[in-house]
Amino acid sequence: MKQNIYDHPEFFQSYRNLRESESNYNDLLEQPTLRDMLPELKNKIVLDVGCGMGDFAKYCVKEQAREVVAIDISKKMIQVAQQRNSHERINYVNIAIEDLQLKQHEFDVVVSSLALHYIRDYDVVIKKINCSLKKMGVFLFSIEHPIVTARRNMDNWIVDKENNRSHYAVDHYQEEGERQQHWYIDGIVKYHRTFSTLINELILNGFQIEQVIEPIPNNKALNSLPKIINEMRKPSFMIIRAKKVW
Ligand SMILES: C[S@@+](CC[C@H](N)C(=O)[O-])C[C@H]1O[C@@H](n2cnc3c(N)ncnc32)[C@H](O)[C@@H]1O
Repeated sequence: MKQNIYDHPEFFQSYRNLRESESNYNDLLEQPTLRDMLPELKNKIVLDVGCGMGDFAKYCVKEQAREVVAIDISKKMIQVAQQRNSHERINYVNIAIEDLQLKQHEFDVVVSSLALHYIRDYDVVIKKINCSLKKMGVFLFSIEHPIVTARRNMDNWIVDKENNRSHYAVDHYQEEGERQQHWYIDGIVKYHRTFSTLINELILNGFQIEQVIEPIPNNKALNSLPKIINEMRKPSFMIIRAKKVW
């Protein structure tokens, strides 16, 4: 079952407000790290899985990608992307990655930013992405860190009597599968996978791991969003770069 939560009106508006706010974790932490980990994009054909409002697809064009196919399950996200970030070299498609038919050896680079924890069948999607990449092509993705998705309700910070964060709880780590989180609204479905599953499925499906980063905030991020210092206590994201070797 695929959940298309980004088309839920209340959730969509809250998420959009977050992304349009001056200081958010995506723009201060996740995106800069992900972009630093990219290979050269000049003349490359790129697939963006879960492209959201299209900012990354537009960035690829700025970096001289030849063509970008940017897909998302959410109609609302694709509509915003087409309004804000349209370009003749970007093809936005409103489709779930699970339903997308891809040709073999089509892309030089596949990128996915914070979308794969919404996917139930990680192994199937990894196989599909491997197949769609040219040999030596790069797959780069960010995901919510397994220590974030582990606990059943994903309500992880434990606070003291004064409401200060005393520690971060990790539990049910080895129980992979569906989690339901309250994030603006109840019932956001995400999927927890252990670090070893995330890595081993890549290796089993023809990838060589090139880099794994758990982003930490720089001074600019700390100045514009002081609470981001909590990333030094526990990481929110994991970013993995892998190369297709077979
Ligand atoms: C946290 S947002 C990130 C959006 C964008 N990558 C960015 O960084 O701004 C996650 C996106 O993944 C999309 N998504 C979730 N499940 C998906 C699926 N099965 N296939 C394609 N996109 C999906 C959502 O609709 C949403 O736009």
